[in-house]
Amino acid sequence: MKIEPASALVGAAAVPGVKGISQRAVLLAAVADGESRIRGFGRAADTVSAIDVVRACGVDVSEVGDDEIWVRGAGLRGLQAPAEPIDCGNAGTVMRLTCGLLAGQRGTFELVGDASLTMRPHERVAEPLRRMGAHITTTDGHAPLHIEGAELHPVSYELPVASAQVKSAILLAGLFAGDGPTTVVEPHPTRDHTERMLAELGVRLRRTPKTVSVWPVERLPSFELEVAGEISSAAPLIAAAVLLNGSELLLRGVNVNPLRAGLLDVLERMGGRIAVFNRRTVGGEPVADLEVRSTPLVATTVEADEVPRLVDELPLVALLGAFARGTTIVRGAGELRAKESDRIETVTDGLRAAGVRIESQPDGFTVRGTPARPRGGRIDAHEDHRIAMLGAITGLVSLEGVELQGAESVAISFPGFFELLDQLVQR
Ligand code: S3P
Repeated sequence: MKIEPASALVGAAAVPGVKGISQRAVLLAAVADGESRIRGFGRAADTVSAIDVVRACGVDVSEVGDDEIWVRGAGLRGLQAPAEPIDCGNAGTVMRLTCGLLAGQRGTFELVGDASLTMRPHERVAEPLRRMGAHITTTDGHAPLHIEGAELHPVSYELPVASAQVKSAILLAGLFAGDGPTTVVEPHPTRDHTERMLAELGVRLRRTPKTVSVWPVERLPSFELEVAGEISSAAPLIAAAVLLNGSELLLRGVNVNPLRAGLLDVLERMGGRIAVFNRRTVGGEPVADLEVRSTPLVATTVEADEVPRLVDELPLVALLGAFARGTTIVRGAGELRAKESDRIETVTDGLRAAGVRIESQPDGFTVRGTPARPRGGRIDAHEDHRIAMLGAITGLVSLEGVELQGAESVAISFPGFFELLDQLVQR
């Protein structure tokens, strides 16, 4: 796909519901008692993977509208073991959280994924679950994963890497674990969608800045949930509007959970002009409208403690850094190598191919900025949705445009991405 240069991004838009909340809601509704209703469901390949997984375990899901689904829960221990492997597609969140839910079920389950998900590390989930008594094996640290339901017991576990997916898997397993609290200790705070959702369902939790404990339950109630817009899907639009002179972009109903909104803090440090207003609470999560205008940027440094709050937006930080006065540094972000692609390499290769002065480091990247547009060129998404969106935005802000290889992978998280861009872009 050829992405032509643009002059500005102008207009108002809403983005699909938060991917991770949509996925968590499906998984929790599947083990609740009775029918749960989820509105604002962020329909995309990765969230449909959550539906596929619970259906494979015998749960009835009605797709009432494009963004509304009803899930008839099977009860806390009611998931059925299918004869075939359960396919998690490209969705790391689905595979990891499902491990936590299945560990306390009855029966034997096999989880598989696509080539990218199969490459990703899974011992990080299996190891803590085993300490809880789970019978789980990986295939040399990767998928396929085999899980045989077992009696679980509570543990206190210190995460070696900051990962909301691993934390969430342990917390979900904790719902089944004996009679005491299961505790997760985090090196740096990560997104707390699971904790917020469990709290909304009346589950007993205790939280300190670096720990969370969950108590086991007998049952989970069904629920109604509205999901607000995904900041990771808003982020490419925000980046384009900041970089394109004369942009005026209004994004309505974006989830601005402080553990997700690190990009807004980084942009503020860089001199970006983003107004956050109409703050409200939707489904137990902070939500706001955002108004974005273009501004000249100055370089910044993102360190390890901040990384989890914008981990999926770091590719865009590299592009923002390309326009900022000075050298932008991202470090302590080695986790980027364990995403849908090795994002340190795919970001560096892609932006360099477009004329950006960027160098990869073992744990991040360094970008030398200049206010002039990069030339453009050919960017390969490497079947990674976030790299596809980075490539598209790079095309808009380039001199000659970008030939984007693998543009279709945006459908993993944001199927309507290119249509929405078309509506907002001024040539
Ligand atoms: C996610 C957590 C992050 C993020 C991923 C979604 C989640 O992964 O990169 O896209 O929904 O919990 P890690 O927790 O492994 O860093």
